[in-house]
Amino acid sequence: MNAAAPDLDVDEILADRAIRIVVCCGSGGVGKTTTAAALALRAAEEHGRRTVVLTIDPARRLAQALGLTELDNTPRQVKGLQPDSAELHAMMLDMKRTFDEVVLAHTEPKKAEEIFANPFYQAMSSTFSGTQEYMAMEKLGQLRARDEWDLIVVDTPPSRSALDFLDAPARLSRFLDGKMLRLLLAPARAGGRSVFNLVSASFGLFSRTVTKILGAQLLSDLSGFVGALDSMFGGFRERAEQTYRVLQAPETAFLVVAAPEPDAVREAVYFAGRLAADRMPLAGLVLNRVVPVAAPRLSADDARAAAARLDEMGGHPSTADVLRVHAELAELHDRQAEVAGRFLHAHPGVPVVRIPAQPADVHDLDGLRAIGSTFE
Ligand SMILES: Nc1ncnc2c1ncn2[C@@H]1O[C@H](COP(=O)(O)OP(=O)(O)OP(=O)(O)O)[C@@H](O)[C@H]1O
Ligand SMILES: [Mg+2]
Repeated sequence: MNAAAPDLDVDEILADRAIRIVVCCGSGGVGKTTTAAALALRAAEEHGRRTVVLTIDPARRLAQALGLTELDNTPRQVKGLQPDSAELHAMMLDMKRTFDEVVLAHTEPKKAEEIFANPFYQAMSSTFSGTQEYMAMEKLGQLRARDEWDLIVVDTPPSRSALDFLDAPARLSRFLDGKMLRLLLAPARAGGRSVFNLVSASFGLFSRTVTKILGAQLLSDLSGFVGALDSMFGGFRERAEQTYRVLQAPETAFLVVAAPEPDAVREAVYFAGRLAADRMPLAGLVLNRVVPVAAPRLSADDARAAAARLDEMGGHPSTADVLRVHAELAELHDRQAEVAGRFLHAHPGVPVVRIPAQPADVHDLDGLRAIGSTFE
């Protein structure tokens, strides 16, 4: 590593009673879910903190190990902790269900039924890009408001450019305050007719064509949905903004997770910059899947030279093979260190912790403990 980064003391964060929320963010596939689960387990087992982990799309076997056999959108206590008194709860985010809960909490039951039956609601609540981010924020806000846990560990959705969840309140505000929406709402309030002109105008089409394409029923569904959103989402936006402020507070610690690979590190540089711009407390970088080197002082070149000498001397071939494997790993290690150095160059002073690549996928409590033990 070309710059010395301070070591990130993960245990210090997990033990700090003033820290109530740890957020693991990073680009796709770097180990956010695994890290979040390992941190949460360690907080519960080693630091005696009543912990809940909010996971997003965990791999099936990991979900099973956490006792998450069905999506029920509420935290369930994880069994098999050591000591028995340790308490960890886990849940996976069900975004459609969370959306439904928001509707039920803020609308009359009859109105809620109408909304649930609306095809635009059905599409938005299950597929609309960004909904997962909104709902992760909503769920975090709910968990924090319940004040039942010492520590909430949050996994984040694998968005193209992660941290989309930070944009959720702002994007929602833009959507709700947007011209398009107000235009759509106006005719809905006026009785619905002019929505035809409006939609046709905005798409640059004749209203007859639009009606033919979209259908009158669909247009009335759309204006109904937009009207419902307007009445319901003021409160949602407020809560999202409140959660956003909690994320800025000192009770929160953000960990940027990255693999020591060029793309992931480039994204991590961006995330750290984004967090700083949003005044979110970045605790450090977690470099995951770092290749471990058994004999760090034996360089790749020396190992290869030794292997060649052994061959000449007629030494045991497997010893030479071990030396050659060591050479490969040492080179990979150096490349990874060089790539990780790019982060340190961009954000000097940000503490770093390294998690070694495990021999196999991490899908049970022991695997999570093994990761946790690297924080010692
Ligand atoms: N240190 C590690 N050693 C070995 N395997 C690991 C390690 N960390 C994570 N994995 C494995 O890598 C895979 C991806 O990890 P994980 O699901 O945590 O990533 P993610 O960032 O949450 O992905 P996504 O962005 O898709 O949600 C999993 O199969 C996991 O078991
Ligand atoms: Mg994940």
